[in-house]
Amino acid sequence: MDSTPAAWSDADVYLSDLLVGDDPDLEGALAAQRDAGLPAIEVAPVSGKLLNLIARISGARRVLEIGTLGGYSTIWLARAVGREGRVVTVEAEADNAAVARASIDAAGVGDRVDIRIGRGADVLPTLVGGFDLVFIDADKESNTIYLDWAAKLGHPGTVIILDNIGREGEIVRDDSTDSKVVGTRDGLRMLGEDPRFDATALQTVGVKGWDGFALAVVV
Ligand code: DHB
Ligand code: MG
Repeated sequence: MDSTPAAWSDADVYLSDLLVGDDPDLEGALAAQRDAGLPAIEVAPVSGKLLNLIARISGARRVLEIGTLGGYSTIWLARAVGREGRVVTVEAEADNAAVARASIDAAGVGDRVDIRIGRGADVLPTLVGGFDLVFIDADKESNTIYLDWAAKLGHPGTVIILDNIGREGEIVRDDSTDSKVVGTRDGLRMLGEDPRFDATALQTVGVKGWDGFALAVVV
C-alpha cells in the first residue's frame, strides 16, 4: 500500500464505517453546519468517538469545550457525560451557536449543554470551575490563554485535549509567520514547560489530512 493522504483518508473512512457507523444525529449536525456555510473543520468521526471514549474512561461529568462550531464534538461529549452530566461550550460566533443549539437539541442532549456565546477570553473568567475534562478547539492564536483557563477551571486529574497540534508538520518551523502555527507551538511549549500540566501529543492522519492532538492531565 502507498502511504499517501488518499490512502490515509480511505483507511480512516474504513475505520469510521466499522467503529463509528451510521449516526443520524451526528450526520444531521454536519448537514446543518454545511447548509449554514460553516467551515468543515469539525473533528473527524474517529476523533469524535475518541473524545467520547476519553470522557467516559475518565468518568468526566463536567466538561468544558472551547470552540463549539456546529456542535458536532459537543454532541459526542454530551453523550459521554450521562444524564446528570453537563457540557459548557464556548462559541465566539452567535450564528455558529444557533446552528449548534438546534443540532444539539435535535440529538436529544440539549438539556446537558450550556452554550456560552462570546470570546473565550471574555467568557472563561465568568465560569464556575470544577471541570473534569476540557476540549480546546478554537482559535489557535489563543491556545495559551485557553490552557491557562483550563488549569484554573479544572482540578488535579482534569483531562485536557488540545486539537490541531500537527498542522501538516509545520509545527517544527520556529520561523513560521503563520499565526496558527505560532499559537500551536506556544500551546505545546506551555504543555511541556508549565508545571501544572503533564502532556503528550499524537499526530493523526485521515480524513482531515495530517494533524493531531495533545492530551494532558492537570497535576
Ligand atoms: C483549523 C481549526 C480546527 O479546529 C481544525 O480542526 C482544523 C483546522 C484551522 O483553523 O485551520
Ligand atoms: Mg479542531
